[in-house]
Amino acid sequence: GNTGLQAYRASLLHFTNDPAFHQQAYAWHEDGLLIVNDGKVQAAGDYAQLKNSLPEGTAVQDYRGKLITPGFIDTHIHYPQTDMIASPAPGLLPWLETYTFPTERKFSDPEHAGEVARFFLDELLRCGTTTAMVYCTVHPESVEAFFTESEARNLRMVAGKVMMDRNCPEFLRDTAESGARESEDLIKKWHKRGRQLYAITPRFAPTSTEAQLQLAGELARAYPDTYLQTHVAENTDEVAWVKSLFPKARSYLDVYDHYGMMRPRAMYAHCIWLDDADRARMAETHSAVSMCPTSNLFLGSGLFNFERADAQHVPLSLATDVGGGTSFSMLQTMNEAYKVARMGGTYLPALRMFYLATLGGARSMQLEGTIGNFVAGAEADFIVLDPQATPLLARRSSRTDSLEELLFALALLGDDRTVAATYAAGRQVHLRKD
Ligand code: GUN
Ligand code: ZN
Repeated sequence: GNTGLQAYRASLLHFTNDPAFHQQAYAWHEDGLLIVNDGKVQAAGDYAQLKNSLPEGTAVQDYRGKLITPGFIDTHIHYPQTDMIASPAPGLLPWLETYTFPTERKFSDPEHAGEVARFFLDELLRCGTTTAMVYCTVHPESVEAFFTESEARNLRMVAGKVMMDRNCPEFLRDTAESGARESEDLIKKWHKRGRQLYAITPRFAPTSTEAQLQLAGELARAYPDTYLQTHVAENTDEVAWVKSLFPKARSYLDVYDHYGMMRPRAMYAHCIWLDDADRARMAETHSAVSMCPTSNLFLGSGLFNFERADAQHVPLSLATDVGGGTSFSMLQTMNEAYKVARMGGTYLPALRMFYLATLGGARSMQLEGTIGNFVAGAEADFIVLDPQATPLLARRSSRTDSLEELLFALALLGDDRTVAATYAAGRQVHLRKD
C-alpha cells in the first residue's frame, strides 16, 4: 500500500560490501536521515545534506540517540518449533524424535498453524528480523497458514512445505509424488505473490528416499527462481547415518549435489562437518551456508569453521534455527557466533556480524538491491536499535570509543529489548513498549 513520504533522523548504518574482504564496506552517518517513499528507500545519508531535499512541511520522526539499520535477515528457522524452544535432549536425533516430530504433528490443523504463525511473526518483528527463510511442516495447511499471516503484514518471507517420506513417524510422512505435487501447487500459488517467496524444502537426506530427492531436484530445475532449503552436516551421528543410507556418495553434501540441489538460492543449514571439497562446491554453485550458532551449541552439534569458509569464499549467512536455536534474536545469534569463531581461533569483528545479519543474508539469498541495505529503491525494511535499552547496555555503550565498540556491545549485550521499533515496507510493524 501507499505509505507516502516519510523521514527518520537517527544514526544510520548499512553495508555495501563484506567488511572481511573490502576496505570500504559500509556507510555510517552519525547524524543521518533515512527517506522512505511508498515503502521503498529514497535516500540515506547525512541529515545536514539531505534535509533540504525534503518537501516543505515533511514530518521528520526523531530517533536521535538511536541507530537505524536494515532489518535483520534470519536465513534458517522453523516456525512450527516455536512452542518447543528450549527442550533439552542429548543431541539432534533424540531431540527430533522426542520433541520435534510430536510438535509438528499438530500443524495439520489450520487454526493451530495460524495461531502459531501469528505469534512467530510477532516475535521475529520484536527481535528486529524482517526477513526469514522458514521451514513449515509436511502439511500444506501449515504453509497456507504461514503465507497468509506474512502476506497480511506485507513481510518479505521465504517458506516451504517439508518433504519427508521415510525414517519419520507415519503421521508426518508424504510420498515422493505427493510431496512434489503439493510443493508445486504451493509454488504456483505463493511464489512471488506480493513479497512471498517459496522454498523447496526436503527436510534432510535421511528422511527422503532417493525418489523424493530426485523429484526435489527436478522441481528446483523446473522453477529456477524458487529457493531450496535443507540441513547438512550438522551432527556426527547424522553424518554417519547418511553414509550408511547413501554409501556411494563421496560426502553428505554430495548426496544433494547428485540430485541437482546445489545452485543459487539453495540454503544449507549448519555445514559444520564439511570438508574442503564440499566447501569448494558450495562456492562454485553459489549455494549458501546458514550458520546457526545458538542451535549448534545447544544441541552440542559442533563448531562452524569460519576460517575455512572464508578462505574458500563460501557464501555465508547467520540464522537462529529456532527451535534448535535458543533465541529469536539475531543480536543473541551474533553473540554466540562470535564465541564459536573465537573457539576456532578466528576473530569476528562486530561490523562483520552486522554485515552477515543484513546484506550478507540478502546476498546469500540473491536479494541484494531488494533487502539488506539502504540503496535507493530497496524495500524499506529497517529497525531502530536503542543503545540505552537496558541499564548495563546504556552504561557500556556510553563508554565506547568507536563504532566497532558500540556494535560489539549491542551484539554481545543486546536482545529483543534493544529493538525500539521495526518497519516493513515503510510501515511500523513493531513498537517496543517502554
Ligand atoms: N535436521 C533435520 N531436521 C532438523 C530440525 O528440525 N532441526 C535441526 N536443527 N536439524 C534438523
Ligand atoms: Zn533447522
